Amino acid sequence: MTVAKKIENSIKNSSLIRKMFEEGLKRKMEFGEDNVFDFSLGNPNLEPPDGFKDVLRNLINDPGSGRHGYMPNAGYQETRQAIADYISKISSARSSADEIIMTVGAGGALNVILKTLLDPGDEVIIPSPYFMEYNFYLDNHQGVPRVVPSKADFSLDLEAMEKAICEKTKAVLINSPNNPTGKVYSREELLGLGSILEKSGKRLGRTIYLISDEPYRKLAYDGVTVPGIFDVFRESIVGTSFSKDLSLPGERIGYIAVNPGISEKDTVMAGMIMSNRILGFVNAPALMQRAIPSLLDASVDISFYRKNRDILCDGLASFGYRFVRPQGAFYLFPETPIRDDAEFVSMLKDENILTVPGSAFGRPGHMRIAYCTSPRVVERSLPGFERAIKRCNTQG
Ligand SMILES: Cc1ncc(COP(=O)(O)O)c(C=O)c1O
Repeated sequence: MTVAKKIENSIKNSSLIRKMFEEGLKRKMEFGEDNVFDFSLGNPNLEPPDGFKDVLRNLINDPGSGRHGYMPNAGYQETRQAIADYISKISSARSSADEIIMTVGAGGALNVILKTLLDPGDEVIIPSPYFMEYNFYLDNHQGVPRVVPSKADFSLDLEAMEKAICEKTKAVLINSPNNPTGKVYSREELLGLGSILEKSGKRLGRTIYLISDEPYRKLAYDGVTVPGIFDVFRESIVGTSFSKDLSLPGERIGYIAVNPGISEKDTVMAGMIMSNRILGFVNAPALMQRAIPSLLDASVDISFYRKNRDILCDGLASFGYRFVRPQGAFYLFPETPIRDDAEFVSMLKDENILTVPGSAFGRPGHMRIAYCTSPRVVERSLPGFERAIKRCNTQG
């Protein structure tokens, strides 16, 4: 035995998403790049916005010294201030640099938050379907996921969430726009959730935090705005990144923003800054931190993703697939025409269409289609989707 049992198990049961992605690479070698329709991974296919490279060039030509050294673990003051100003601009919150920590992506942000908040055995309520990496993130910090299925339209089942709250509940973790459903939670839902957390916290005599994972926040369609959480619940913390809206997932840059009104703010902040350090992140990448202040209002052109969503939704609906139309992110989460989602995903694989079974997100009987790909791939995949559902109809 070379590695820890836990890691050995994790490798064995490792992500279905990654497996499908690797299968895609194999198939592309065999059948040619153009003949495999890879919807497996949420890896944005758009290049970062035009200004990004100019910002980097300017930074590289900056003659200042000490630009690549260690810095305070929370990140550069100017970057944190720029983010606080941005939050104050787009929401009613009055945010300050003291409430911001720069992180290694949203994944880094969530690990810092969870490490800071959780004692062993503490529970975190997660509405499902959900991004399954949360299970690993919780396990990293000895937290326990308490999964509560959302309603059929993927809105929050507030009654069920309230019932799930117990002595061990430390936080609720939400993600909107959602991976894998594309759902955007309404302000009414969030207000409802906030009042449940407030009431339950009082009853139990402990704070229950609301953690909001928001890397898709700028990716919303049809004029839908994504409500902020700071004015729905005081004890709230945002973890986010520029991975999706600036197409920079490889650059590992994100941040944590704490509600300006959170209780014991100094302790929470000191804990998270400490966690950022001792998790070994130390600080978020320096060059990216210096680039971000010029890019806060920028975004990839989301009309590409909207176009993909429309082509896919129109096509799949006409073939008889059933789904909730996504309002944001770049995922569609239809029901599979047969109950066995893995079996249907395998039927699609025979058409060289790569998707991920809903079971990988805690909702069997569905599949996730990541449409952050080119419109040509989406269009050319449609006949395969049609043949697959027809086969089910003739077999069934
Ligand atoms: C819901 C959700 N949260 C967090 C992440 C991690 O984002 P990052 O790459 O910024 O760490 C992802 C990435 O796909 C995601 O889908």
